[in-house]
Amino acid sequence: MEKIQPVRGTKDLLPLEQSIHRYIIDTALNTAKLYNFKEVSTPIMEFSQVFKRTLGDSSDIVNKEMYTFLDRKEKELTLRPEGTAGIVRAILSEGLLKDLPLKYFYQGAMFRYERPQKGRQRQFHQIGVEHISVEKSPQADAEIIAQAKLFLSNLLKDSADNIILEINSLGSYKDRENYIKELKIYLEKHKNKLSDDSVNRLETNPLRILDSKSKQDQEVVANVPSITDFLSSESKEYFNQVKNILNSFNIKFTENPKLVRGLDYYSHSIFEFKSDLLGSQSTLLGGGRYDRLMSLMGGPDYSGVGWAAGIERLSLIIKEDVLLTKSIEQNITLALLPVSKEEESFCLQLAQNLRKNNVSVEIITQGNISKKIKKALRIKSLYNILIGQEEIKSKTCIVKTSANKKEDKVNISDLSSFFK
Ligand code: HAM
Repeated sequence: MEKIQPVRGTKDLLPLEQSIHRYIIDTALNTAKLYNFKEVSTPIMEFSQVFKRTLGDSSDIVNKEMYTFLDRKEKELTLRPEGTAGIVRAILSEGLLKDLPLKYFYQGAMFRYERPQKGRQRQFHQIGVEHISVEKSPQADAEIIAQAKLFLSNLLKDSADNIILEINSLGSYKDRENYIKELKIYLEKHKNKLSDDSVNRLETNPLRILDSKSKQDQEVVANVPSITDFLSSESKEYFNQVKNILNSFNIKFTENPKLVRGLDYYSHSIFEFKSDLLGSQSTLLGGGRYDRLMSLMGGPDYSGVGWAAGIERLSLIIKEDVLLTKSIEQNITLALLPVSKEEESFCLQLAQNLRKNNVSVEIITQGNISKKIKKALRIKSLYNILIGQEEIKSKTCIVKTSANKKEDKVNISDLSSFFK
């Protein structure tokens, strides 16, 4: 019979990968707590309308990447492609608007029917934060960027030095519409030089042509009018304030007027953290302000700002750093090696006592003593103890430290304090 394979674009998370995911989630949550974000979870499936109404009819996600299906009652559901729309839906359906501002952290699996490659999967995982308030505020934009930056430095240590922050402003919805009109006129003139994909986008989503990866598009895009010239004076002033606060925080950024993001709900500040270690999928973390999302879902005209980062992409960066990966691996503290069957029940009791004192223990019983020692090496226990009749009689043992081969003679009854 043919071996059953996982669904294309999905991955099993085995212990090392799962420990890295856990480390990323824990670090993100701890950093979010410093800014008073509270953790929430929304369902993995939502009515398709939640995404169709908000992410944009012309966005790639809604057009061709959603996992949409009818349930047994013929209701159209979608596996969430991102977290923001679900959070806003939850705020509306749970009636939380009287408690604004709301600051939420979330993490979990997302689904997009994309062509899988390094750093791009069909089931992937995100961590993210959203800050919803009655009105937009440059302080909130700058703080959310600062929080993203602190998270990346806490997570990646020295590897965070290679990450760059790009920011841009799309202005108000009206500024954006004005710009799109001009952009279309310009691109129409150079239509014959654009890739087929971009010619199609000209009608549906011309902004996305700006961040096309195709060389021929990039040549046309090099000279397009800049969105910065289409911002109203109010939008410019707002963006200046965001930049001033970032400067006051000593946060380095590059302004990229061609940064547009893949979802339609953004206005004003948008940003991405990128790393050149990731090849073509270089964006680790992206976000920005969204002014219309809530009203598109039938709520009031309130504003939000947030970001999300791909856990798989962060994991790829962590794995480039051998020392960091080693420190994340969850190794057992102690391997107990009974010399023969005779000492097994003694070891079982001892392990129970140590675990009650918070020491993690594995008992290795398979094979002869040299096999047991090899197994202890493989599981990378931090300490090993051989238990024979001699040890049981004398109530003492030799604790061998794996890292430096140091040997300590310890009373068996003192073991738990030794490991503290
Ligand atoms: P996004 O840029 O679509 O934004 O996704 C955020 C991050 O998720 C990306 O930068 C990337 O690291 C990761 N990601 C996206 N697609 C994939 C994939 N197929 N495989 C692996 N990783 C992927 C959002 O989702 C917005 N909801 C962010 C946001 C929150 N904006 C405001 N609030």
